[in-house]
Amino acid sequence: MAILVTGGAGYIGSHTCIELLKAGEDIVVMDNFYNSKPKAVELIKEISGKDFRFYEADMCSEADMEKIFSENDIEAVIHFAGYKAVAESVREPLKYYKNNLGGTFTVLEAMKKHGCKKIIFSSSATVYGMPEKVPVDETFPLSAINPYGETKLTIEDMLRAVCKADKDFSAALLRYFNPIGANECGKIGEDPNGIPNNLMPIIINVCTGKQEKLTVFGKDYPTPDGTCVRDYIHVVDLALGHLAALKYVRTETGAEPFNLGTGKGYSVLDIINTFERVNDIKIPYVIGERRPGDAAECYSVPDKAYKKLGWKAERGLEQMCRDAWNFVKNSGK
Ligand code: WQD
Repeated sequence: MAILVTGGAGYIGSHTCIELLKAGEDIVVMDNFYNSKPKAVELIKEISGKDFRFYEADMCSEADMEKIFSENDIEAVIHFAGYKAVAESVREPLKYYKNNLGGTFTVLEAMKKHGCKKIIFSSSATVYGMPEKVPVDETFPLSAINPYGETKLTIEDMLRAVCKADKDFSAALLRYFNPIGANECGKIGEDPNGIPNNLMPIIINVCTGKQEKLTVFGKDYPTPDGTCVRDYIHVVDLALGHLAALKYVRTETGAEPFNLGTGKGYSVLDIINTFERVNDIKIPYVIGERRPGDAAECYSVPDKAYKKLGWKAERGLEQMCRDAWNFVKNSGK
């Protein structure tokens, strides 16, 4: 039996595939390369030294999903595929609802038809909306402040309903905080198509001269240095969280949310300063206006994942910054 990884060529998907293969899992990977590149599939094979079946396929296509499920014996799905740019989701909400909700619906229907009852879903800390206090645990109220967040929250709701209706169904809802960094080998990392939206890819673009300078969004927040605080997590730690969740869905049933974070908050200036120090490079930046929709602070209580999944993040901020830059230097991006 195999694990189906949707969106397996993307940033978190590709790192997770490597760890799954290293752990001896049999995987089937699908991706439509909307925000990833075919090269990632080759790199996963090269880095892991293992082969697997790959489908260039769209999760919104019933025919594509049927083909994958009928040609393989799928035990569980790790569901990464989805659009993820917050600002774009505000401009083009229907695009997000159609792809993220419609695609997940099609995946779930194929699972139902083929008797597959285990799923690990890429949720996000965004389901906590603007948290009233920090650190955030899984019992906090859920809300969405943009269409991207709404799709994450709605998919969580869909999975809660599916698990309620079918007591044999198991769904791990993994709420990622802010993934950064890259595989230690330096061959694979975050490589988005188009203009990036997240802090670390923008820092990288500034360091490689693709962008003139970084704008820090606000320095008047009620935080120690005035800039926003987030829970940055090394992408390899995050990938390993999926292996722990796989063990969980194999033995448990029901829909269960888990925060995947380090439990530590770092400010934008902490990230800039650490990146500059460990990589011996200057990041030109200016202080700008606040970005609408940014919470002052968002970091996790990661204890539930430790207690129930036996997982915790091991890699620190210096390693995240070093590995992110190492990938760029190595791959000549
Ligand atoms: C991090 C910090 C910015 C860019 C979003 C989604 C979340 C998840 C990850 C999506 C913030 C600051 C950023 C810049 C800056 N999913 N910043 N200048 O907003 O915490 O989370 O991405 O893939 O659901 O909401 O991440 O990387 O955009 O920002 O100062 O040019 O960096 O204000 O404090 P965020 P981010």
